[in-house]
Amino acid sequence: MPTILSQNLRKVYSVQKKRPGLSGSIRDLISPIHEDKVAVKDVSFVIEEGELVGFIGPNGAGKTTTLKMLSGLLYPTGGEVRVLGFDPWKREHNFLKSISLVMGQKNQLWWDLPAIESFNLAKDIYGIDGKVYQKTLDKLVQMLDIGDVLNVQVRKLSLGQRMKAELVAALIHSPKILFLDEPTIGLDVVMQQSMRVFLKEYNQTNPGSIILTSHYMDDVKELCKRVIIIDQGSILYDGLLSEVIARFSQHKIIEVITPSGTKTHKVLRAKVAEKAADLLKDPQVIDINIKEVEIEDVIRRIFAGEKKD
Ligand SMILES: Nc1ncnc2c1ncn2[C@@H]1O[C@H](COP(=O)(O)OP(=O)(O)OP(=O)(O)O)[C@@H](O)[C@H]1O
Ligand SMILES: [Mg+2]
Repeated sequence: MPTILSQNLRKVYSVQKKRPGLSGSIRDLISPIHEDKVAVKDVSFVIEEGELVGFIGPNGAGKTTTLKMLSGLLYPTGGEVRVLGFDPWKREHNFLKSISLVMGQKNQLWWDLPAIESFNLAKDIYGIDGKVYQKTLDKLVQMLDIGDVLNVQVRKLSLGQRMKAELVAALIHSPKILFLDEPTIGLDVVMQQSMRVFLKEYNQTNPGSIILTSHYMDDVKELCKRVIIIDQGSILYDGLLSEVIARFSQHKIIEVITPSGTKTHKVLRAKVAEKAADLLKDPQVIDINIKEVEIEDVIRRIFAGEKKD
């Protein structure tokens, strides 16, 4: 049984259409008109135990909506979804004990309490054995290096400290699936890096799967072998990150080094050998390198709607 099975998943929001002007606003109050907004059109994929998958796409692509359906916060309009064999929407206790959703934009800890109180509360809610709880907590606190702020009111923590505390709260019951929706958003470069190091180590030392959305390609490059690219509610690509370039870029870069500096040429894949041989004819050339274009560039172009370069 796959960890996550999503088949033709669909979500249509009903949004109120605004009429123009003051009289329009009054009529909106009396007889609102609704229109459909297709957020997730048709999404199918399978995720196996232990995978760390990057779920990427431009703003409004449907990532958060999909994660909310997978974690049971939203009821799908169509299609089928099974997570660890459960129907997420039923939000059964055993399902909730097996997953966690962390949203970088949303605070899930008690704002006025020290983080440790939220963790203790989770211990009771999930019925975690005292010794197991202490062991998991110690390990997470050590890995995230937040021992010194556990007793500080959450509202007084920096964004980075708070995100780390959010992760502890999300992982304290050792879920089998962790959904991360932009966990590094707004963090400074150093804090982003320490989050990545943590997630990588966590994924390597714990069973279970992680689905990660991020707008930072560095997160995805460092953490995910597999990516699912979604755009306008449909899947554009599902496969190895390392193959995204070959699939979406028809070009390679030839770097030519001469005593006066380095020059780069963007060349069609099929013409690389021919072009390189041609460039080497110049006696000034000391060396040449053939490289792939940058993954950032490829992804940016895909997001901009240009499917091939
Ligand atoms: N509650 C809602 N009601 C109506 N429309 C919504 C609602 N939530 C999201 N949408 C719309 O659905 C589409 C998908 O939104 P979603 O939040 O899933 O995108 P996303 O991929 O997470 O984007 P981002 O990268 O900006 O977080 C967008 O067009 C958005 O405006
Ligand atoms: Mg989102």
